[in-house]
Amino acid sequence: MLHLKLQASLQAAVRAVLPDAEVVNVLVRPCPDARHGDYQSNALIAVAKQRKLNPRQLAEQVQAQLDVTELCDAVEISGPGFLNFRVRPAALAAVLQSAAQGEHLFFAKAAQPRTVVIDFSSPNVAKPMHVGHIRSTGLGDALQRVFRLLGHRVVTDNHIGDWGTQFGKLLLGWKQLLDRDALGRDAIAELERLYKTINAECDATPARLEEAKLELVKLQAGDAENIAVWQEMIRVSQAQFDTIYGRLGVKFDHALGESFYNPQLGPVVNDLLASGLARESEGAVGVFSDGSLPQKSDPFLVNRDGEWVADPALVRKSDGGFNYMTTDLATVDYRLKTWAPEEIVYVVDDRQAPHFRKLFLTFARWQSDAAKQVKLIHVGFGKILGEDGKPFKTRSGDTVKLGDLLDEAEERALAVVTEKNPDLPEAQRKEIARIVGLGSVKYADLLPNRQSDYQFSWDKMLALQGNTAPYLLYAYTRLRSIHRKSLEQSAVSGQRSAVSLNAPDEIALAKQLLNFGLVLEAVAEEYRPNFLCNYLYDLAGVFARFYESCPVLKSEGDERATRLLLCDLTGRVLKQGLEVLGIETTEQM
Ligand code: ARG
Repeated sequence: MLHLKLQASLQAAVRAVLPDAEVVNVLVRPCPDARHGDYQSNALIAVAKQRKLNPRQLAEQVQAQLDVTELCDAVEISGPGFLNFRVRPAALAAVLQSAAQGEHLFFAKAAQPRTVVIDFSSPNVAKPMHVGHIRSTGLGDALQRVFRLLGHRVVTDNHIGDWGTQFGKLLLGWKQLLDRDALGRDAIAELERLYKTINAECDATPARLEEAKLELVKLQAGDAENIAVWQEMIRVSQAQFDTIYGRLGVKFDHALGESFYNPQLGPVVNDLLASGLARESEGAVGVFSDGSLPQKSDPFLVNRDGEWVADPALVRKSDGGFNYMTTDLATVDYRLKTWAPEEIVYVVDDRQAPHFRKLFLTFARWQSDAAKQVKLIHVGFGKILGEDGKPFKTRSGDTVKLGDLLDEAEERALAVVTEKNPDLPEAQRKEIARIVGLGSVKYADLLPNRQSDYQFSWDKMLALQGNTAPYLLYAYTRLRSIHRKSLEQSAVSGQRSAVSLNAPDEIALAKQLLNFGLVLEAVAEEYRPNFLCNYLYDLAGVFARFYESCPVLKSEGDERATRLLLCDLTGRVLKQGLEVLGIETTEQM
């Protein structure tokens, strides 16, 4: 990639001036202000500061050593010591040509691939997946696709909630109230009904609660009947999750649910107790603050009425049961031993941020050497709000089921497609609507900064104008239609021609294409697919300006070849970009 070539030349020049300099942080990035250049490096300022040199002087010395005439018209120094590069159109054309030959699509595979475990989606058994699950599922899937595209080794793991106290009530309900037909029609709805009924009864009658507890104890003790029923509940839940994942095009390498770690939980707690990390308190076992952090940022403390009191990471309850934390500790341990990842990414709602801070700190205290080998990171996200600004609910106030939401997305998209293209056969319109509808929901969810709450709006996400999936999908279909038409005119396009960039809008489009790789890297670095959404939207805009000022099908010779190539590469980048966001494309809309 061009910026990498510039970067390598710059690093060599820095070493020529300062033979012992560390150059890994001498980076070249797109110039924030196009008036100053296409690419920029601000790294010399830091290098100079470290060595107490004058940054402008250092910049001049480096500039004198820099050999980039093949790539750049000029290298200029600005401000306190920035180096600005202006790329020659011929160098841009060469990159386009190599992309045309299939050597790359404007990104490079990671020089040092990492093993990255991504824990995402992770719904709970016996409950329907609701609208909130689109967030973890969509973000996690986009991240895993980007990491893989960049050549990292990715392990995806769906940490399903398949264990816990709720199974006492579910088992009791299953044994006494189960409606087999209802289970066959909609298993999760039936499990939900059982749970709700028994839960209400338990609230009203203590004896009923005791019955439920007994079922739980039997399950935990490995009672054959209860284990079989529990497994059946997991099986029917998983089948429904899989239906949703199938529609969303999401796959997992593993789905090691919480129950998978049961045998490890006792040993984990014993280990924590033996090493003095955990202690008993009021019958329970917890890990407490070690006082190493300022109170305000210590997750093991909480402020109650102006006083700091202990808020331990609980690992064993007073009744001997284990906690969410215990399972997560065992899970980190297992993942490190099994896959030796450099990174474990948890794509989970921001409300669980305190849990993950405690988890990461506890793990670091428990296994300090192993912890140094891995980066544990919570990729959090905010809520989905309704148009009234309150958490998104159905009209009757229930949580919105994900399956229903996807149905509605496809129905609404069908109306949009039918309006645009009433003459297409129905089956084709439905298939396009499936792509547009699901793409719209996913895109609307990936577009905002993941940590902010966003308002769910059908009208906005399905609009053909603005930063939406339909807009990008439509832009893609236009590119495909240009491609088809160009083939029909093959008489003109047969001859070999050279790529030569002349018009400002041709050059602008080429530069935007070249930034694709940098954007993918930024997505992986900050776990923010929204960077890619914005990039693709900008690309479509730059393309629209190009297409307006530069006739493609009516041009000839090198100009035609160049413009067709720009169209083709724009289409390929759009398709690849949408694909890593988990969004399918269509040839017609
Ligand atoms: N099942 C959990 C929930 O619904 C999310 C699990 C996230 N992953 C984890 N390793 N804790 O809240």
